[in-house]
Amino acid sequence: MRSATSTLGEHVYSPGMLTAFAPGRVNLIGDHTDYTGGLVMPMAVQMGTTVRFEPGGDSVHLASEGFEGTVDVPIGVSDPASVEPRWGRYVAGVVLSIRPSTGGSGYVSTTLPVGAGLSSSAALEVALALALGFGRDSLSLARACRRAEQISSGLPCGIMDHLASAAGRTGHALLIDCTTEAVEPVAVPPDCEIVVVPSGETRHLASTPYADRHASCEEAARIIGPLAEARRSQLALISDPTLRRRARHVITENERVRAFAGAMASGDLLDAGRLMVESHRSLRDDFEVSTPALERVVERLLRHPGVYGTRLTGGGFGGCVVALTEPGSLHEGWTVVPSAGARVSSIQ
Ligand code: GLA
Repeated sequence: MRSATSTLGEHVYSPGMLTAFAPGRVNLIGDHTDYTGGLVMPMAVQMGTTVRFEPGGDSVHLASEGFEGTVDVPIGVSDPASVEPRWGRYVAGVVLSIRPSTGGSGYVSTTLPVGAGLSSSAALEVALALALGFGRDSLSLARACRRAEQISSGLPCGIMDHLASAAGRTGHALLIDCTTEAVEPVAVPPDCEIVVVPSGETRHLASTPYADRHASCEEAARIIGPLAEARRSQLALISDPTLRRRARHVITENERVRAFAGAMASGDLLDAGRLMVESHRSLRDDFEVSTPALERVVERLLRHPGVYGTRLTGGGFGGCVVALTEPGSLHEGWTVVPSAGARVSSIQ
């Protein structure tokens, strides 16, 4: 038990404080499918964001080691776009989304690289929502934080990042059906490693053509119906060749996610790796979200002994590549382990 006050790092803490942690995620397969109600298979990783927080008051006051400046957002905030510094907009998004009855003050720290495609913004939103007292189940938490992301960044994102962070399971990836929002944990075989290699290109997804890809999927769905239910044979009904390729990525990616989940469950790492490479090619050629920097990393890793497969992970346009490897074969990037989801505890 701590007595009156104590210190954690350079900050003074008193009884009643909380610590909330939310992991980042890497997506093993199934990109640009979540916002069309399709299948994804991410896993929460050991790196994440911690908010140490003392509830009370009518604003959310946060300092941080990784982000610049301090944030002070009133719990009655109405316009996140006016909040400075910019990371405060995520804070405002969470406040607007969950409408807490009290604010508080605290400190944010993260072990996630920011803008690298490991869902640093989702981890911040999920950890903050927990710190602000969000007490419902992990799916409700993920929905609330997805809404926060959409409010704060304008990005029409899907639920994958927030659900992976909220519902992560030690030793497992999550097969998520984004129409039903059902989550099925799939054990990651013990005789492999998952390595994330940065391309060196950081980006903020809201300033990429992500929304344009989202709009193309909606347009394709107006022609052939929900892409999550569509079949390859229906692609012929789409006359615009670009739109047809976008839809083909989504339809074939859903097939690959299902096959990949089966391959992982049966420990067929060669097949899992092959599916990852096919997914990457589809993201590159049909969905056009790869970049020369991502291509260089993928091509290099594919020549590396012990790599079963590799692909860009997340939204693309920069960020990271994920590789499935024999243990110990890659000595770069971050070796990530499938980890538990977000949690909150009181500091005692
Ligand atoms: C980002 C979004 C997710 C998802 C991926 C692409 O990470 O936040 O919802 O759309 O891109 O799969």
